[in-house]
Amino acid sequence: MLAESTLIKEARKALEASIVYYQGKPIGTVAACDPEVEALNYDQCFVRDFVSSGLFFLIEGKPDIVRNFLIEVLGLQSQEKRLDCFEPGQGLKPASFKVVSRGDEEYLLADFGEQAIARVAPIDSCFWWLILLRAYVKATGDLELAQGADFQHGIHLILKLCLESRFDMFPTLLVPDGSFMIDRRMGVYGYPLEIQALFHAALRAAEELLLPGDPGDMYLQAVQTRLSHLTYHVRSYYWLDLQRLNEIYRYRGEEFGEAAINKFNVYPDTIPPWLTDWLPDTGGYLAGNVGPGQIDFRFFGQGNLLAIATCLATPQQAQAIMDLIAQRWQDLVGHMPFKICYPAVEGQDWRTITGSDPKNIPWSYHNGGNWPVLLWSLAVAALKTDRPELLQGALEVAEKRLLIDQWAEYYDGRNGRLVGKEARKFQTWTIAGYLLAKALQENPNHLSLICFDEDPGVAPCR
Ligand code: GLC
Repeated sequence: MLAESTLIKEARKALEASIVYYQGKPIGTVAACDPEVEALNYDQCFVRDFVSSGLFFLIEGKPDIVRNFLIEVLGLQSQEKRLDCFEPGQGLKPASFKVVSRGDEEYLLADFGEQAIARVAPIDSCFWWLILLRAYVKATGDLELAQGADFQHGIHLILKLCLESRFDMFPTLLVPDGSFMIDRRMGVYGYPLEIQALFHAALRAAEELLLPGDPGDMYLQAVQTRLSHLTYHVRSYYWLDLQRLNEIYRYRGEEFGEAAINKFNVYPDTIPPWLTDWLPDTGGYLAGNVGPGQIDFRFFGQGNLLAIATCLATPQQAQAIMDLIAQRWQDLVGHMPFKICYPAVEGQDWRTITGSDPKNIPWSYHNGGNWPVLLWSLAVAALKTDRPELLQGALEVAEKRLLIDQWAEYYDGRNGRLVGKEARKFQTWTIAGYLLAKALQENPNHLSLICFDEDPGVAPCR
């Protein structure tokens, strides 16, 4: 149990108040309980948001809510999810759901994206569900739940959906814009890093949870093959450090065939001017996106931190990412850990990339805002790489503001100095993210719930 401070006491109280009940049982937490603004869809339980609360509940010895959540979300996959007449693939998990009461009757209503702003597909939900299922099994030893026929079928559907052969040349997963935490148009379509990190973690979770036999063995083989290709690809082609930047700078274009060095035909002119100064001598990171003729050089917080947690990054790359964070502290931690994406897109780029989105103006929200929920991923990455001083520093920064700002959803400005223009207060994943970071700091053994060891079956990188 965490030592009580005022901050922790208040956080626990706020987390408790966010719990959603269905037929008398706790099944999740709402996104936010801000008494001052209209709830919109923040009164729903978002799958990605619940992971922070769920992991904390597991550590606190309250696994029932996580179990109920996993069962209910699995059940929701059969709900109709149509956009006009089109029905997306089975295995997709909802972005969020809510409890609806009609008279004495209660039922769950899911949103698979068909009700969301811009109808974005919540691709990350099925990965988070699998990651949380594996954490639940690790925390409780209750393998029976995951090995039940309905759960195995649920895992098969997810794998079918993402391992199916498509029109593709890469082992990374091709997705539309806004399909994860960044759920608005932000130029994160194609092969965005966060999706690849979640895909990788989910495959590793499936590897542990699949029952042997038929068809489990068939899926297991497909999972292992894809894991090895995906890991190699991300480690080799997403990595950016000074040496790699020098290579790209001197790239030649228009190379044909197997021997091509510049495999994706990236032109040196696409290197953004900020990067040459920003990249430290020691340190590096995984690029935001890699595709034909394209490297998105922006630094995305969640993808890099998760890549450390799950060993998608090599141990050397993991250390280098933490070196970068230490040396670019003001840019990435600033007044509130942690930057969702650095730097912001501005001017004509902002118009083209976001579609002139007023919520994603430069240095706000997804476009360069600071998100306290990322504190727990930062905690995992810092502890896993044995850099506890970085976690301690980030917690000290966050603790100055969290309670005063009433657990704001996100912060604006180059260094995250302003509470986000449209940020909710009492945002649950801000609260749970803080509690989880503290709990991990107090007992790093809990890292095993979310971390994976180096996969021996994988070639390191180029
Ligand atoms: C916003 C965020 C999304 C989050 C949701 C609920 O839509 O962009 O990542 O899941 O709010 O907090």
